[in-house]
Amino acid sequence: MKIAPSILNADFGHLAEAVQQAEAGGADWIHVDVMDGLFVPNITLGFPVVEAIHRATSLPLDVHLMIDSPSRYVKRFVEAGATWLTIHLEADRHPHRTLSEIRAAGARAGLALNPGTPVAHSAELLEDIDLLLVMSVNPGFGGQSFIPAALRKVREARALIDRCNRACELEVDGGIKLPNAPDVIQAGASVIVAGSFVYADGKVEANVRALRTALHA
Ligand code: DX5
Ligand code: ZN
Repeated sequence: MKIAPSILNADFGHLAEAVQQAEAGGADWIHVDVMDGLFVPNITLGFPVVEAIHRATSLPLDVHLMIDSPSRYVKRFVEAGATWLTIHLEADRHPHRTLSEIRAAGARAGLALNPGTPVAHSAELLEDIDLLLVMSVNPGFGGQSFIPAALRKVREARALIDRCNRACELEVDGGIKLPNAPDVIQAGASVIVAGSFVYADGKVEANVRALRTALHA
């Protein structure tokens, strides 16, 4: 079970410290949310910021691309330091090709599903990915509420992964906090993303540790 704090709610004036605090608290990956103002109604960060985060930590960067036609930028994000590079199924007309491009560029390939996208739509791509990301909020903003129906999707995704590609990570992203994190793991997730829970009150290390304890309970 892995914890991937999302820096979306961190203080962008002190990103290096924000990432290092998460690392000190025992985070496994750093989740980096890239938004383009088209696929989602928000704009966040690009290559120089990913590079700066990469320089600030030895943890793998889990880069979540919420951008249209992501194949345009695969190489640049891998060069910037992405270990894991996740595209949205809904944002790409040719996801199979883009996923192979990610692997060819030397990163692990992830596929994300919006809340309205059935898990079954990922079935044909499951052998071509290293990570399936089930969104438990509509992408675009941190601090939203967990959509309860996501738990059923996580269970469904777990069954599909166990059948088709056991090595594939199952990540869940959006609205995860102490009370619901154990449910998400129990439904079959192997990686949880937490943004506002980790960063909103500034007690980053303690929050990552609390999450770890809750997951072991
Ligand atoms: C939403 C992002 C998430 C988000 C998580 O579009 O993909 O990674 O920042 O933040 P919380 O945990 O606050 O929902
Ligand atoms: Zn994300």
